[in-house]
Formats: sequence, structure tokens, C-alpha cells
Amino acid sequence: MVINVVILAAGQGKRMNSALPKVLHPLAGKPLLGHVLDTARAIGAGHICVVYGHGGEQVQARLNAPDVTWVNQSPQLGTGHAVLQAMPQLVPTMPSLTLVLYGDVPLIQASTLQRLLDVAVQGAQSEPGAKGSTQGALALLTANLDNPQGYGRIVREADTGKVTCIVEEKDASDAQRQIHEINTGILVAPTEALSRWLPTLGNRNAQGEYYLTDIVAMAVAEGLPVVTAQPEVAWETEGVNSKVQLAALERIYQRKIADTLLNAGVSLADPARIDVRGQLTCGRDVFIDANNLFEGQVTLADNVRIGANCVLKNCHIFEGAVIAPFCHIEDADVGPDCRIGPYARLRPGTELGRDVHIGNFVEVKNSTIADHSKANHLAYIGDATIGQRVNVGAGTITCNYDGANKFRTVIEDDVFIGSDTQLVAPVTVGCGATLGAGTTLTKDAPPDQLTISRTKQLSIAGWKRPVKQKKD
Ligand code: UD1
Ligand code: CA
Repeated sequence: MVINVVILAAGQGKRMNSALPKVLHPLAGKPLLGHVLDTARAIGAGHICVVYGHGGEQVQARLNAPDVTWVNQSPQLGTGHAVLQAMPQLVPTMPSLTLVLYGDVPLIQASTLQRLLDVAVQGAQSEPGAKGSTQGALALLTANLDNPQGYGRIVREADTGKVTCIVEEKDASDAQRQIHEINTGILVAPTEALSRWLPTLGNRNAQGEYYLTDIVAMAVAEGLPVVTAQPEVAWETEGVNSKVQLAALERIYQRKIADTLLNAGVSLADPARIDVRGQLTCGRDVFIDANNLFEGQVTLADNVRIGANCVLKNCHIFEGAVIAPFCHIEDADVGPDCRIGPYARLRPGTELGRDVHIGNFVEVKNSTIADHSKANHLAYIGDATIGQRVNVGAGTITCNYDGANKFRTVIEDDVFIGSDTQLVAPVTVGCGATLGAGTTLTKDAPPDQLTISRTKQLSIAGWKRPVKQKKD
């Protein structure tokens, strides 16, 4: 069975009060439409078509999805009109189903869509002789809401319970407005039937729009079975029309991720105070304290501990490493048993070996630091290669930039660098060398020797502090 997916995303999203097209607003760091596309891919969609309106170029550029066909709907004359624009792009091969999703309903789950597709196939088979038996039924995703206001209502035959039509709120009678079963908007239809029905839709209704929902009555008239399924949880079909709704879905999504982590054995100080914007992979006995943000691909190996208030983006933290509070780590590898922070910044290209200590107010960029080396206080290490068991004193700076070009600093094994040292790159400090405190190193330091650049200390005997002059 070929599955076409049509994603409706032409709406302007005025209530977002933003220049950004609605479907590009991020949820967990990914555009709303990106979530829907990923779910469509997860159910094995053979073909995906997005109907866009405002900001089309921006949407296409941002999502960069070569597997998607983009169709412009202009003007926007309703949901039926929107799907009609996509029809020439769909694969009509029999049997073929078309699933309609909304670009602003980001949390719909693949498992729910799979059930909807299953009832579309089974619904048709359950009525042998019915027209749909070879091609699938019309399957609607519906929900029972305490407050159904604003939604299209599912109208059923009183005696059989069979769906007869969907009536929009604005077109509904008082009696129909009492119906609590609503149309989520997500549906599956045989592609062939859709292509026959859509061109015949009218717009003589309260909103003057071409309603996709009118295909339900058409299916009933043809004797094509109309079946329904429900989402597992209500938030799956909640749409985003405002920043308030977006924020609410963000919290639901983050809580879902937190629960998944807890169930996998990760300890979270507070599941309400973790944000994952990407993929966080954890080993055994990982502890994550409050207020942490994980972006992109982050892996925390066994026994890793993350202190409060850290931001970790695209990094690997190896087993037993401890990250103290308030660290910022991006595009970096932190080796086993390392101790980082508090208040450390590891910038892109940082690779730390085993048991490396990076302390407060130390910045490391594009540098490798080998096993057991330490930079515990106030330092800048940029474009450096540091060996094993090196001690980098407080206030050490690699002067890697001459205003035009960057140069490397090489510090070999067992070096001791005294406090407040500047290493003017390119420069190499040989194995076992010691640099005296305050040294400005402009030439290579030989191995095993003390190298020091310091003005000679002198004391002036008999010198007196000036005293304040008396004014008359
Ligand atoms: C639609 C349904 C209603 C359902 C509700 C669920 C119809 C006629 N009504 O109503 O039964 O309860 O969704 O939220 O289908 N869109 C386009 N092009 C258009 C119009 C809409 O792409 O010309 C897109 C929108 O961007 C949005 C989706 O279709 O993603 C739904 O549009 P919206 O205006 O919110 O539909 P409703 O009138 O609320
Ligand atoms: Ca709506």
C-alpha cells in the first residue's frame, strides 16, 4: 500500500504575532513542521507533500527536506482547496491511501497514525462488497472533548452509530453543537476517491470555504465505509495558534522526554526542569541536577553527573565524568573521570583525555588536553595541544591570535606552567619543562629546564612613602 502524506501548512498564524511563519516556530528546538515531517517519515510515507502559503521560501530553506514536494496554495480557500492543490503530486497507484496532517499539530504520534491507517485498511475489508473493499475506507481521527467549541463535530446515525457527516461549528445547529465528538482534522482517504471528490466540493457554507470535511458525506453517499480512531492522549492533536499554546505543548513534550529518561534509569533532580532540544542518550546511573539544557546530539556515559544550570550542545561526556554547575560545553569530548567547572566553558574542538580537570573561569577552544592534566583556575587555552600530567597555572593564556592568523601552542608531557604566563604562539614547551610565574614565552622552552622571563626584583633601601601635603 502506497501512503501519501499531505501536510497542510498554508495558514498565516496571525495570532503568533511574529514575522516567522507559524510552522517554523521551534518546539524542542525543531520547527513545528519538522516534527510533523519526521512523524510522516516514521510511518513509512511513500510520498510527502507540504501545502504552504506565506513565507514559502523561508520554510523550504529552513527545513531543507529533499524528500518533500512543496505546493503553493494561493489564495487559501479552505482545507479542501488546500488538499486539492496537492493532488497532482500524489502517487495514484492502486491501492494508495492519502493521510492528511496539519503542519501546526506537531505532537501527533506515529503509533496513532499507524492505527488510523490500520482502520482505514480493515474498515474497508470489514464490509465486503462495499466499494472501498479494495482501496481502503475513509478513516477519521476523532476525539471526545469536554469543551468541543470551535471544532467540527462528528455526526452519527442515532441507531447504527455510523458516521454520516462532519459539520463545522459555524454551520452547526444547536443540537449538533451539543456533540462532544470532534474532528481533529487528521484523516486517511483512498487517493483515488479523494481525487474524484475534491474537485466537486462547494463553498456554500458559513465561511465561504472549500471544506475538506465535506468528503465524509460524499463517502457515505457512495457507500464507502467511514471509520474512526482516537489518539492515545489528547495533546497529540492539539494545534498551535498562539505562543501560549506553543509553550504548553513544549512543556508536555519536555515532560514526555523526562519520563522516558526516568524510565530508562536516569536520575533527574526535577523532571520539570530539564530541556532536551535534540537527542540525549544516557548510560547507566547518570544523574542530572536541576535546570539543565541539552541541545543537538549529547551522550552521557555511565555514572556521569551533571550539576545544576549547565548547557551542553553536541558533546560526548565519557564514563564517570563530573560536570559541576554552570558549565557551557559545545562540540566537545570530555574524557572519562574528568572534572569540569563550576563555571567552565568548553568550546568547539575541545577534546579532553581521562581525568582532566578544568576549573572555574577556564575557557578551552580547539585544543586537546591529555590524561591527568589540569587547568584549575582562570585560563584561556585556545589552539593548543597539551600532553599528559601538565599543570596549567592560574591566569595562563595562550596568545593564539595575532590579529590576522591563529597559531598553535604545544605543551608536552609533565610540563608545569606557573601562574600568569602568556604563551605567544606558535610556541612549544618541551617535555618536563617548568615556566616561571609571569613568563611571557615567545620562543620555545627546552625540556626539563626552568624558563622564566621576568624583570629582576629590586628593593630600594631608605625609600619613604609620600605623605599628604598640608593646604594652608
Ligand atoms: C478544521 C476542520 C475542523 C476541525 C479543525 C481541527 C475543516 C473544514 N475544518 O477547522 O473540522 O475540527 O480543523 O483543528 O477542515 N489550511 C490550509 N489552507 C487553507 C485553510 C487551512 O493550509 O486554505 C491549514 C491551516 O494552516 C491549518 C489547517 O489547515 O494547519 C486547519 O486550518 P484551520 O483554519 O485551523 O481549520 P479550522 O477552520 O479550525
Ligand atoms: Ca484550527
